[in-house]
Amino acid sequence: MERTFIMLKPDAVQRGLVGQVIARFEAKGCKLVGMKLMKVDRALAEQHYAEHKGKAFFEPTVNYIMSSPVVATVWEGKSVVAIARELMGSTNPAGANPGTIRGAYGMDISRNVIHGSDSVSSADREIALYFKTEEILEYDKAGQEWLSE
Ligand code: GTP
Ligand code: MG
Repeated sequence: MERTFIMLKPDAVQRGLVGQVIARFEAKGCKLVGMKLMKVDRALAEQHYAEHKGKAFFEPTVNYIMSSPVVATVWEGKSVVAIARELMGSTNPAGANPGTIRGAYGMDISRNVIHGSDSVSSADREIALYFKTEEILEYDKAGQEWLSE
């Protein structure tokens, strides 16, 4: 089954939005298979944002992600990468649809509440960065037959 990596960024934790954001993924039908509260160190932050190295926002973004604990999560489901990106909304919360997480909870691109993998290959890379294999749990979840055929 497809998996995606979702991080509730430091502002989500500091603003007490963890429960509300997690609830949206649960209500949608995504299956939680990994979760931890953690601090991101510089090495991990620079690997996470490697694709943006050299851009003006790289250093501030790395510093932001290291500034306070984050909640790292892995979710499973049919087309979950694309579904999660839809739930999150566009990168800049100022212009994001208010029905989305960033649109509902954010004000500024540099404090945009949540990260989500942008493709299946990014998800594989990011899950491996943040989780050991044994930290991703396989289990039967009630009600799956009511979500898809
Ligand atoms: P992530 O899920 O966090 O990866 O966001 P994204 O995929 O919607 O955007 P992208 O990967 O292009 O950018 C990664 C992160 O860098 C964003 O979430 C923002 O926090 C930050 N960022 C991207 N573009 C800008 C920008 O133009 N200005 C600032 N200040 N930050 C930016
Ligand atoms: Mg991205």
